[in-house]
Amino acid sequence: MRFDIFTLFPGIFESPLRESMLKRSIESGLLEVQLHNIRDYAEGRHQVTDDYPYGGGGGMVMKPEPVFAAVEAVLGVETTTPIVLLTPQGRVFNQQVAFELAQHDRVALICGRYEGFDERIREHLATDEISIGDYVLTGGELAALVVVDAVIRLRPGVLGDPTGAIDDSHAGGLLEYPHYTRPPEFRGWGVPEVLLSGDHARVDRWRREQALRRTWLRRPDLLERAELTEAEQAWLRQLTQEWTRKISE
Ligand code: 6GU
Repeated sequence: MRFDIFTLFPGIFESPLRESMLKRSIESGLLEVQLHNIRDYAEGRHQVTDDYPYGGGGGMVMKPEPVFAAVEAVLGVETTTPIVLLTPQGRVFNQQVAFELAQHDRVALICGRYEGFDERIREHLATDEISIGDYVLTGGELAALVVVDAVIRLRPGVLGDPTGAIDDSHAGGLLEYPHYTRPPEFRGWGVPEVLLSGDHARVDRWRREQALRRTWLRRPDLLERAELTEAEQAWLRQLTQEWTRKISE
């Protein structure tokens, strides 16, 4: 999968792409990241990429010409590649959006700086707008890295274990069950007996119940869209009833 990233600060991407999974994905040819400096496409001796907002007010605005020029030089004018603007005004990134993007072999990401983009970039160049959450960053670069990381790990072959992404928190709409590794006792704290039992069916049931319980406690909003059996829904209703009974005592 190839990402074309348009940015005024390509240096931000260097070390994250040179470590761990992203590095290995690049080395194995499963990931290609091409960084394009928007400033290289700006005209004039000063290669200006921002300007004052029409109508006044504070902050600077990303000029349209260098952004259009950069994207069109790299992707051409007619392209089916998704062109994603990273902006706090976009739809909020989540595992579903990561899955969507992972279906493409090539994605372009445009990182903004300053107060925002000239609206014509949104309207006539971008095909999608993504935010990574309800807070404001100084630019889209860290958000682009979040998107590359979350998307590339969904591509076949990127995680060593082919089942690696299946149990992830959020993959089935639930948080993940608790994990334990050796030693069996650490500072007097043990490991749930079921995990040492060797009974795989019991382990699977326990993990599913833990995932449900944990999601119910921490992120009840996720349960509305999770894929649950009738029995699981009944069990959660029972959990809720026990809880309401307990707090009204
Ligand atoms: Cl994509 N960009 C900026 N500047 N801030 C953000 C964001 C993106 N997502 C959340 N906050």
